[in-house]
Amino acid sequence: MKSLYPLARGNPVSALTTLAVLGLINTSGFAADKKLVVGFSQVGAESGWRTANTDSIKSEAAKRGIDLHFSDAQQKEENQIKAIRSFIAQGVDVIAFSPVVETGFEPVLQEAKKAGIPVVLSDRAVKVSDPTLYKCFLGSDFIEEGKRAGNEALKLTDGKAGIAELVGTVGSAPAIDRAKGFREVIASHPDMKIILSQSGDFTRAKGKEVMEAFLKSPEAKQITLLFAHNDDMALGAIQAMEEAGIKPGQDIKIVSIDGVKGAFEAMKDGKLNVTVECNPLLGPQLFDIIEKVAKGETVPARVVTQEGVYEQAQAAEELPKRQY
Ligand code: AHR
Repeated sequence: MKSLYPLARGNPVSALTTLAVLGLINTSGFAADKKLVVGFSQVGAESGWRTANTDSIKSEAAKRGIDLHFSDAQQKEENQIKAIRSFIAQGVDVIAFSPVVETGFEPVLQEAKKAGIPVVLSDRAVKVSDPTLYKCFLGSDFIEEGKRAGNEALKLTDGKAGIAELVGTVGSAPAIDRAKGFREVIASHPDMKIILSQSGDFTRAKGKEVMEAFLKSPEAKQITLLFAHNDDMALGAIQAMEEAGIKPGQDIKIVSIDGVKGAFEAMKDGKLNVTVECNPLLGPQLFDIIEKVAKGETVPARVVTQEGVYEQAQAAEELPKRQY
């Protein structure tokens, strides 16, 4: 398929001139009656956060009349690489994706570059040797989120805790960076000890399963704080604690990340202590960037989303305002 957004592809000037002479484009360089075609490869549907992110992207595309080719990778990198290759074959105007893991995308991104299709990263980063393989990365500062979680953990425990950690998807940017940020903060507090750490793959079911195993381990009695890399895993762990006769939020303090409604409900019930916000409502910002990229405009290489921290005492007031 030929791109209808010539500025997004190779040799823009001559293509534009031809279209302008024919009267087929408006002054912004867009083909007046043609839709922008965007291929988006999503991580999966692993969490409440992800569902909200998908809804935000789909509804914003619909609002703007964008032809969105959406593909769900079901948390598998190989599916994501296949989807990107298929977007290249379809000749979409822009490719956007939220990478399941950080590494392994360089070859397919080179293919996109060779085909003249610009790429925008949404939510998660990739590790590549050539920074020109994508135009912009829009998403949270995951290291900062980990640091915020670490600071909240310190406040909750007066700097003395046996910590169990539910890690996100192994190799994913949020799992790597949140672990890093958290450790940076607790490093100077020798009584903050991570005694158990395992991946729950960002899902509620796995979070529950791993917490059950933690509670059966020889270290179980030393756990006084749970750091979950997302709310869904924390909610699963809460279930596991209750089934084991442990009071979540009291016997074991809990800090997690995302700020989904379920976390606010758990805080309101006293079962979760803190959620560090990670904003999934990226649709409007993402398509602002995509539209600029399609027009050949320069965009910043990095756009960081603004986020807050919510403690239990704020839950009842904040809950009705939450959008996801
Ligand atoms: O990349 C963002 C993370 O992915 C969210 O924290 C988590 O819930 C999701 O699965």
